[in-house]
Amino acid sequence: YEDPLDLMDEIDALKKEKDATLLAHFYIDGDIQEIADFTGDSLKLARDAVKVETSTIVFSGVHFMAESTKILSPEKKVLLPDLNAGCSLADSCQYGDLLQFQEKLRAEGRDFETVAYINTTAKVKSLCDWIVTSGNAREIIDRVPKDKEILFVPDQHLGRYLQEVSGRNMILWPGSCMVHEIFSVQDLLRAKKNNPGSIVLAHPECPHRILEVSDFIGGTEKLRQYVMSIKEPGTFLVATEANMIHPLHKSAPQHTFIPVPGIMSSTGETCACNRCPHMALNTLQKVRDCLKYGKPEIEWQPYFDKAKDVLERSLLQ
Ligand code: 13P
Repeated sequence: YEDPLDLMDEIDALKKEKDATLLAHFYIDGDIQEIADFTGDSLKLARDAVKVETSTIVFSGVHFMAESTKILSPEKKVLLPDLNAGCSLADSCQYGDLLQFQEKLRAEGRDFETVAYINTTAKVKSLCDWIVTSGNAREIIDRVPKDKEILFVPDQHLGRYLQEVSGRNMILWPGSCMVHEIFSVQDLLRAKKNNPGSIVLAHPECPHRILEVSDFIGGTEKLRQYVMSIKEPGTFLVATEANMIHPLHKSAPQHTFIPVPGIMSSTGETCACNRCPHMALNTLQKVRDCLKYGKPEIEWQPYFDKAKDVLERSLLQ
């Protein structure tokens, strides 16, 4: 056992010694968010990363985030505390399957552009015309010429939601996020009943059945902005990864935040289903170790060049 406070001090010292900047996504453990130089949603972190001046970036998040950072800043050493921190959405759309599907659509004479959620591998990004995050999706969808169809990969729920708000028809890939997919409407309605007057916040990765009974829908940064805009103390039920409570509470301490449970176990207790097991691989020990030993590192891959074009066009312009 290592004391978290000692580990935090050690990380602070190592950041200086190794000329490193620590970025942490809002879904990461609160202790790591506290010592990070930048925290945020996928869009803000991607933009913050290109402004970093140190020679090393430690990305406390999941693989596709660190990979995107390496692609946008090839000259930096980019470290990910655990290379196994993957993403169920990225896993649901494999390069070969997407290529085959695009070829089939082209053979049918369909005129389309492929829009990918940033939660994809760089190899998949290299097959796409646009990359979106929850924070810029609406804006990017508007950039796709009206006479083209849109193939949206891999999140069917975010895609369905974007169809609704943009009025554009999309061909949807059947992927979903394991954390958001598992929220139960019954649990949510019960939590609402037990907390009269509460406001339900939901990430657009949630299935339609959850969004239907939510009061406000947005990516993680949009949720944070929303709770900050409400000055009167309120109670919020939060239908996204449970660590999101950390930045919400920090930004708007006047409110009470209750994480929406994942599926209830038969004993009536909540399980930890609202925690992303990949994000959870980021521990203080692993952040310390990757700084100390300079690994695991994201290595440049030949297909990064193509992914760089689409990432820059979509996120930085
Ligand atoms: P945002 O933080 O951009 O809303 O995305 C959440 C997410 O899917 C992280 O994997």
